[in-house]
Order: sequence, then C-alpha cells, then structure tokens
Amino acid sequence: MQSKKIAIIGAGVMGKKHAQTIVKHPDTELVAICDPFSDAMAQEFNVPNYKDLDDLLNTMTLDGVVIANPNRFHVSTAIQCMQHGVTCLLEKPLALNTAEALTLIEAQQSLNVPILVGHHRRHNKIIQQAKEIIDAGTLGEINTFNALWSVYKPDSYFDIEWHRVAGAGVLAINLVHDLDLMRYLNGEIESVQAMTSNKNRKLEVEDSISILVRFKNGALGTLLASDAAVSPWGWDQNTEENKTSFAVSPDQDCYFISGFEGALSVPNLEYWNYPKDQSKSWSTSLMKNKVEPNKEEDVYIRQLTHFVDVMNGIAEPISSPQDAIHNIQLLECIELAAKEQRTVYLEQLQCFKKSA
Ligand SMILES: NC(=O)c1ccc[n+]([C@@H]2O[C@H](COP(=O)([O-])OP(=O)(O)OC[C@H]3O[C@@H](n4cnc5c(N)ncnc54)[C@H](O)[C@@H]3O)[C@@H](O)[C@H]2O)c1
Repeated sequence: MQSKKIAIIGAGVMGKKHAQTIVKHPDTELVAICDPFSDAMAQEFNVPNYKDLDDLLNTMTLDGVVIANPNRFHVSTAIQCMQHGVTCLLEKPLALNTAEALTLIEAQQSLNVPILVGHHRRHNKIIQQAKEIIDAGTLGEINTFNALWSVYKPDSYFDIEWHRVAGAGVLAINLVHDLDLMRYLNGEIESVQAMTSNKNRKLEVEDSISILVRFKNGALGTLLASDAAVSPWGWDQNTEENKTSFAVSPDQDCYFISGFEGALSVPNLEYWNYPKDQSKSWSTSLMKNKVEPNKEEDVYIRQLTHFVDVMNGIAEPISSPQDAIHNIQLLECIELAAKEQRTVYLEQLQCFKKSA
C-alpha cells in the first residue's frame, strides 16, 4: 500500500512532535506544512510551507492533515479540510466550547469525512491493557475511580500571558486527558461538583482543583490535581510517556479503580482480588496480581497507525468528535460547578440538549 501523504497545519511544539512521528512511521510521508507565521519547520523537514490553507488544499493532493494550530482555529480549519475531502487528525481540544463542537459535528455529518481527535493517551498500550483487565470483569462492577495529577509547573511557565488567565489552568490544559480516560475506562459521567483554588500562585487561573463525578453506571469518582504541588503522582510522571517535559516516577500510580470484585492501579497494572476459595470480607487478605505494563511502544506512533487505518477506511476513530464533545461539555460543567458551588448535571447544559 502507498504511504499516506500528510500535511501539518500549525508548526509549533505539537506540530513538530507530529512531524517527527510522521517521518519515523513506515506508512506515512510528510509532504507539507501550513503555518502563516513561520517556515522554519518546513525548512527543517525539507517540505514546502504554505502560508494559506486554501493554497495548500488547492495545490496538493493529501490523504490527511494533522491540525495543530491554536485552539480557536480548530473548528474552522477542520471544516475547510473536510470540504476538500481530507481526513483530519485534530489536536485536542475538539473545540472551544460545546456550541462550537456541535457546529463541527453537523458539518462532519453532511460532508462525511472522518476526524480523529488527538486524545493520544487512549492509544497508550497501558490503557489498552487496563481496559482489557476491566472488560474481563476482574474488578466486577466498578464503584470508585480515584485519579491524581499533581506536579510543579516551573515559574517561567507563567511568564506567558495566556497561561495566567482563566481557561488556561490545570483543568483545561491537563485534566481534559484524565477526564477522557475516566470516561474511556468507566463510561459516561452524569454529574459533577468541583472546587478550585489559586492560593499558591494567586493568579487569575486556578492552580489546584478537586472534582467529584457521578458516572452514569452509578460509580463515583474523584479527580484531584494541582500544578503548584510537588508530587510524583500523575499520568505524565508515572507512564514515562512524555520524558522530554516530565521527570519520571515510574514506580508510582495515578489511577486507583475499585469494584465489587477487585481493584486496579494504573499505570503499574497491579490488581487485587480475594482468593476464590475464601469469603469476601475486609478480614480476608487480598491476592495481588500484576500485568507487566507495556511502556515501550511510542504512543504517537500508535496514534498515527490508527490514523492510517482511519484514512484507509478500515477503522472508526477511537476518539471521534461525537465522543470528544463529552470532554468539552465536562470542562464547561466543572467550571460552572466550581463557580456556582453546586452539582451540575451534564444533560442540563442548554446547547448540549440540542445534540441529544
Ligand atoms: N495532545 C496533547 O497532549 C497536546 C499537547 C500540547 C498541545 N496540544 C494541542 O496542540 C495544538 C497546538 O499547541 P502547541 O503547544 O503546539 O502551540 P504552539 O503555540 O507551539 O504552536 C501553534 C502554531 O500554530 C501556528 N498558527 C497560528 N495560527 C495559525 C493558523 N491560522 N494556521 C496555521 N497555523 C497557525 C503558530 O504560528 C504556531 O507555530 C493546540 O490545539 C494544543 O491544545 C495537544
């Protein structure tokens, strides 16, 4: 099969990560970059840079694009690409808000071009392994899901003006991935409560947040996070997925999931059950088992392999806009819950009702 011709839109930090991945992958070819402000990356990868997206789409025949431009352009860019029949790998977030996400979904339904949303963690082999353990019934019906993400962002991170203002905090930038995985592993969330704090940095943006969720299957969850706390607990430190940015603490876990029959910690994939021949009771010693977590496979290569399958029409996107809109909706509900100090039910979001 011929390698897939892919262009990258947005030559920033994430665009470069995608370019490196495309160049490494045996089934893909980087053919162009589109960035109105810089052609440095195009020069580095020896491909043409287009300052204008229409120029690119009218000049080149593409199998796919990776959209890694600023969030406010995601929806308009994806629609423009779909109008040329080009399959998109659209970086998260899908859109700025639920209303905008619905516009994209409507356009996609009429243009009928696939979009894979870049919730890359879903492609991590460890998540696939955790899902297999859960789907095999090892935990029974899940009762609780406890997730942690705490790390100290360097003070220089906040030199960038937009990092200091509401909307660019730990919730939208980091926890959107954890919320996506909580949904992926345990199903949709029905309602949320939340508290935020900025007591450490005293900036407009939150530096810490605690979130309570009730899943539709009745399980309860907590997600506790801070980007002003020194801690070894968080997806990025524990999975070693992003060693260029995060120092690792691979012996620690960040998700603790327990059910009627057993418990599982992620990413180390240790799970506990009562021995089959003994009574289920808090006085019975638990048996600990372990699946060796597969940390070897590059998550971005795995995501790209899946994108190739989507372009070939042999796979449905593991993260579609119809799925990723739930993450956008969750962010909005959590912000509202924290602001108004009340339980917010996802179905009450006015614009989301229209899509139901
Ligand atoms: N999956 C993840 O874990 C992850 C991590 C970081 C960023 N992201 C996402 O990737 C996207 C890019 O983030 P980044 O950190 O690379 O940002 P960045 O600021 O480093 O890069 C953005 C690039 O887009 C270019 N640009 C601006 N307007 C454009 C336009 N209209 N068309 C094309 N290019 C344009 C800029 O010149 C810049 O080169 C964001 O949507 C972000 O949310 C995802």
